[in-house]
Amino acid sequence: MKQVISGSELRASLHHLQLSSPDPEILARFYEAKLGMVPQRVGDAWVCRATDRCLIFTAGKPNGLGFAAYRVHDAAALDGLARRLRQHDVATEPSPTQLFAPGAVAFRNPDGTLMVFGVPREFPPIDTAMPARLQHVVVASSDAERMVAFMTGTVGLRISDRVLDDEGVLRTCFMRGDDEHHCFAVFQAAESRLDHYCFESRDWNSIRDWGDHFAAQHTQIEWGPGRHGPGNNLFIFIHDPDKNWVEISAELEIVPSDKPVGVWPHEERTLNSWGRAPLRS
Ligand SMILES: [Fe+2]
Repeated sequence: MKQVISGSELRASLHHLQLSSPDPEILARFYEAKLGMVPQRVGDAWVCRATDRCLIFTAGKPNGLGFAAYRVHDAAALDGLARRLRQHDVATEPSPTQLFAPGAVAFRNPDGTLMVFGVPREFPPIDTAMPARLQHVVVASSDAERMVAFMTGTVGLRISDRVLDDEGVLRTCFMRGDDEHHCFAVFQAAESRLDHYCFESRDWNSIRDWGDHFAAQHTQIEWGPGRHGPGNNLFIFIHDPDKNWVEISAELEIVPSDKPVGVWPHEERTLNSWGRAPLRS
């Protein structure tokens, strides 16, 4: 279903992430072996790529989200974003990524994490037998409401679903940049940090295939299989060597542009309708 996008909204999808690690090469080798991504040393960074998925690892603290890079389709989208950032007095920074063409727009979200929106450069495809497209990133924030206000009111994402506790306080919010249920989400937590990132595969059988693949690699599934409430996606989670939480999901909900914002209770069943779930706060 084609989404109707107004002038204050942004059509965007997650393209790549930069993560810091005490040992970037160990992470690069892990994603090569387990996720079929080809590592390449570029300066001080490791760029790990397969078709539809890319992670960049740099030296630094573990579990650090250096930046999240979102794809837009044309320069007009970037012009609109830059205009909204100026209207809200949000400073821009030089783009930190070589994977986007010149003209990418970079700025910091309220928790200080760099966000980049740009048009990807063309690279030769790197096919793998295991399809999974980098699809969303989720952060925890000490002020989730502020993050949501910024990512919707300034950046131009749209809210798909909100999770509220018994007092009506926002605990989680799922936001979309196209017709997929979410490309960015935020949990309310004691401190701001990366929560997890997700590769979207095709269907239930592909979740099975990833599970068998991880079994052959002696990589344990840490959570799942299960099904999220908001987004309705099937999922499994593994840990990488830095204990980053890596999700493989499938069948993420496609939502119509006029979908009313959904409200879910803050309980385990919302995070996993099939069983147990770790509440973030
Ligand atoms: Fe997720």
